[in-house]
Amino acid sequence: MLDDIRKAAAEFDAALSRATSARALDELRVRYFGRKEGLIPGFFSRLKEVAREQKKDVGDALNKLRDRLEADLKEKSDRVAAEEAARREAREQIDVTLPARMPRLGHLHPITIVRREMEQIFREMGYSIDPGLEIETDWYNFEALNFTPDHPARDTQDTFFLDVTPYLLRTHTSNVQIRSMEKYEPPVKVLSCGRVFRRDEITMRRSPMFHQAEGFLVDKGIHIGHLRATLEHVVRRLFGSDSKMRMRPSFFPFTEPSAEVDMSCIFCRGAGCGTCSQTGWMEILGCGMIHPQVLRNVGIDPEEWSGFAFGMGLDRVAMLKFDIPNIRTLFENDLRVLSQF
Ligand code: DAH
Repeated sequence: MLDDIRKAAAEFDAALSRATSARALDELRVRYFGRKEGLIPGFFSRLKEVAREQKKDVGDALNKLRDRLEADLKEKSDRVAAEEAARREAREQIDVTLPARMPRLGHLHPITIVRREMEQIFREMGYSIDPGLEIETDWYNFEALNFTPDHPARDTQDTFFLDVTPYLLRTHTSNVQIRSMEKYEPPVKVLSCGRVFRRDEITMRRSPMFHQAEGFLVDKGIHIGHLRATLEHVVRRLFGSDSKMRMRPSFFPFTEPSAEVDMSCIFCRGAGCGTCSQTGWMEILGCGMIHPQVLRNVGIDPEEWSGFAFGMGLDRVAMLKFDIPNIRTLFENDLRVLSQF
């Protein structure tokens, strides 16, 4: 048996020097020290077969061998673990001085920029922001706004009708006036920005889908001076404090009186240039005092309350602000163009 023990020890040494990974070392440990079939426990259980006078020598030799092998195994395992840790660390090392790879940031669409700017201006004045509905009924888009069924003003706002009557795509954001006045008791002030649709020819300035901002306010004693002051504030905030505006009489079925607003041309500052057809002015919105019939249509007494409203093309504002000559540029999603803003 002493021979067997010596042989096992020599084999262990050879195997230990070959083992270079934690896994190989673990296999070695199982082979020699495993509870069930380990060689060392095997020797110990064979001790009872050893003749009595040899028992002490063999037992001593076995104990020594076990202690040595255990110590050798532990020493090598520790070394291999340290080496593996060092290798892992080297592999995972980060050079913190390398320049960072920056995420590619997106940016806002010009219309979103203008919409947010509008919403901010009106939020500061205490307006609620309400996007309204894009699919509407004839009542909210036309009738409640005083477009009777055969009113000629409807001709300028032909739209897309859904298969399900009476639904259509709204032609303007003015529907929000009616919806909001139904929802809230006066006093009320709301700004609504969103998409509108018309059966229009596609031209440099027209698209069958475009964007409007609608604002309106109903309170006691509201007159056209409030409207003018509000619009002057908006024009200055959007286009700079030296921007001027003027009101021209106009017609809308849902306002009386009605006006169109021009602002001083942002390119020539009023001197006259190609963009403003040498007039120094550019039209930017329609507005007026809310028609008494519109108030009556939503159950508000026009003797007690009055209000103003305005509607403005957001695409138009974006085109002016960013000097974009063709409205289609805004909707073609060409990143080479859009990334300039
Ligand atoms: N809804 C009108 C349009 O699309 C614009 C407009 C004009 C809105 C006058 C208003 C307003 O609120 O008072 O042509």
